[in-house]
Amino acid sequence: MDLEREFDRVVAADHRVEPRDWMPDGYRSTLIRQIAQHAHSEIIGMQPEGNWISRAPSLRRKAILLAKVQDEAGHGLYLYAAAETLGADRAELTEKLISGRQKYSSIFNYPTLTFADVGVIGWLVDGAAICNQVPLCRTSYGPYARAMIRVCKEESFHQRQGYELLMTMMGGTKQQRDLVQDAVNRWWWPSLMMFGPPDAESSNTEQSMHWRIKRHTNDELRQRFVDMSVPQAVKLGVTFPDPKLVWNDERGHYDFGEIDWAEFWRVVKGDGPCNAQRVAHRRQAHEDGAWVREAAAAYAAKKNSEAVA
Ligand code: ACO
Repeated sequence: MDLEREFDRVVAADHRVEPRDWMPDGYRSTLIRQIAQHAHSEIIGMQPEGNWISRAPSLRRKAILLAKVQDEAGHGLYLYAAAETLGADRAELTEKLISGRQKYSSIFNYPTLTFADVGVIGWLVDGAAICNQVPLCRTSYGPYARAMIRVCKEESFHQRQGYELLMTMMGGTKQQRDLVQDAVNRWWWPSLMMFGPPDAESSNTEQSMHWRIKRHTNDELRQRFVDMSVPQAVKLGVTFPDPKLVWNDERGHYDFGEIDWAEFWRVVKGDGPCNAQRVAHRRQAHEDGAWVREAAAAYAAKKNSEAVA
């Protein structure tokens, strides 16, 4: 079939598939799934750090955090818009999120216990997000790839503000240094889980690599993140909670310990420390915003009827 051959040619040549192009149903549904999960992650991801906006220790830290959390909202909106170009309905995607029928990243189901968590989320969680998302700037679907370029620029600012905050705390009192180390201990393993299950158990990787939706496997990106993070930890003066983390000369990479995959699947399936709270909060925000949606729809209807008259 000509249309299918043309699609395969575009993907193989590393060109972009655009919304009006023919695409296999599976390609469309895989993209909607991944982009929607990604969008939901950005929106739910506002909560753990939003928790600290009113308690930031200075005006400067508050302004930075506020900007960062607003950026996450923006990322969610670009991504929902990208999903809409594939025919998805944004209201339906939100409905699926708040009814637990669509996933979001496991990482946002962990609590932020101290202000050091804000720094560690910037450094490790946003660092992992960048590692995963920079290759997505070359994903085969045009609107997703283009959204990722801007998202990655902003994520890079998020990562730096986190590292700078931690550097400041590490130059402070012993109590501040202890808070940083404690936050690193709690976030390190969940950050490694962000990259998804091991390749052998990843149901979507093979097909998504073939379609060039994904450009690297989960394990490749996880290894890249570990290799990148160890020298940063040394510079910062913290350690990772993994006695098996050691440089392997032969592989040219760091070896690391076994991830607790039972914990990962528990959190993905809804039984993490904060899953219920995160979804309930999102549902409440959605319900509280109903009047805005109704007012916007009434205004649009009025404008339309004026245009017709
Ligand atoms: N949290 C929750 N669910 C996950 C996670 C995770 N960390 N990792 C994998 N899963 C889910 C997958 O969505 C998939 O579920 P589904 O098939 O029921 O939809 C299942 O576990 C199996 O995993 P994979 O087959 O490996 O899934 P996939 O090929 O989609 O790879 C990955 C997962 C790497 C997260 C990919 O979807 C991706 O790159 N997404 C874009 C980036 C993204 O969403 N980042 C969100 C966090 S970053 C941030 O918001 C700051």
